[in-house]
Amino acid sequence: MKLEQIKNISVLGAGIMGHGIAQSFLMGGYPVMLYDIRKSILETAKVHIEKNMGLFHKSDLVEKQDIELALQRLSTTTDLKRAVEGSDFIVEAAPEDLSLKQELFEQVESLCGGDTIIASNTSSLTLKDIGAQAKSKERLVITHWFNPPHIVPTVEVVKGEWTSDETMETAYQLLEKIKKMPVKINRELPGFLVNRIQIAMVREVFDLYEKGVASAGDIDKAVKGSFGFRLASIGPLLTADLGGLELWLRVCENLLPHIQSSTEPPKALQRLVSQGHFGIKSGRGFYDYAVDFSKAELDGVIQKRDQEFLNRLKHLYWDKKIEE
Ligand SMILES: NC(=O)c1ccc[n+]([C@@H]2O[C@H](COP(=O)([O-])OP(=O)(O)OC[C@H]3O[C@@H](n4cnc5c(N)ncnc54)[C@H](O)[C@@H]3O)[C@@H](O)[C@H]2O)c1
Repeated sequence: MKLEQIKNISVLGAGIMGHGIAQSFLMGGYPVMLYDIRKSILETAKVHIEKNMGLFHKSDLVEKQDIELALQRLSTTTDLKRAVEGSDFIVEAAPEDLSLKQELFEQVESLCGGDTIIASNTSSLTLKDIGAQAKSKERLVITHWFNPPHIVPTVEVVKGEWTSDETMETAYQLLEKIKKMPVKINRELPGFLVNRIQIAMVREVFDLYEKGVASAGDIDKAVKGSFGFRLASIGPLLTADLGGLELWLRVCENLLPHIQSSTEPPKALQRLVSQGHFGIKSGRGFYDYAVDFSKAELDGVIQKRDQEFLNRLKHLYWDKKIEE
């Protein structure tokens, strides 16, 4: 399947990721069929998509009339056959459960066209397992989006053992076309690329917090104002080149022996979770929140975060050609 042949998109699962993925394709100009197992979930997803498009408009990222057109391109269904039969590119965003995804892939393959690309948004499973029973494995690919998917630019396009070069290329081009920032991951490995890097960093962050080296607020401030500040514009490898590799070598030699390298889950996380502190939703995590923190206030915090992300999206990516 080539990019020019892709006319219709389907998204399976309208939860946290699915409705945002659907929004990205709608805003990219494609008709989207959104599927879930319950009508009420689809109704909620539609409300969220409309509200989130409103935030894009508030940030001058989309015109009001384009929102209306995008919403007209959205269809929803609880009928899997209807969801996939006319589709050229299917994104599966169902729960992270291997047998559920295997069954869904098998059903989808029997209902969709022979060339349709089937992409999974799995965070931790492999195509080898999800698509074990698939008949044409060359059209299976992982497209791994990041939350909130309608805003965060990067999508990892991961090549499974049998994924064809054409499937990889088409998935990549399609994501570029809808203004995402796809990256090609040449083979499946646990955590793909981004989550591996993120986990390596937070292991040290959690450890510094546990040792009381600095407060949660100061740790977050330090990261936001230093390499966090740089990273949105230049990646770590370009940063290293600009700083001088001989310096980075010396710093690695001096510091790596002191950096946390345990393969156990971080102590700070284990302790907080065992005490019932799950973060904002339980009123306490690394920070304390108001005990009577309401759902509306939580929604407000997320909306404020999304508005900030959208401002950054506008300045860094939206109007510019993405640099390779
Ligand atoms: N949440 C994240 O931050 C995140 C990030 C990247 C990738 N992912 C991956 O995306 C996928 C979806 O995660 P989520 O956080 O959106 O989950 P979610 O629970 O919010 O949404 C899953 C949706 O799938 C629906 N569903 C249940 N059974 C289904 C079926 N048989 N067919 C189709 N849909 C079905 C559910 O009703 C629900 O609406 C998972 O594979 C997850 O690992 C999640």
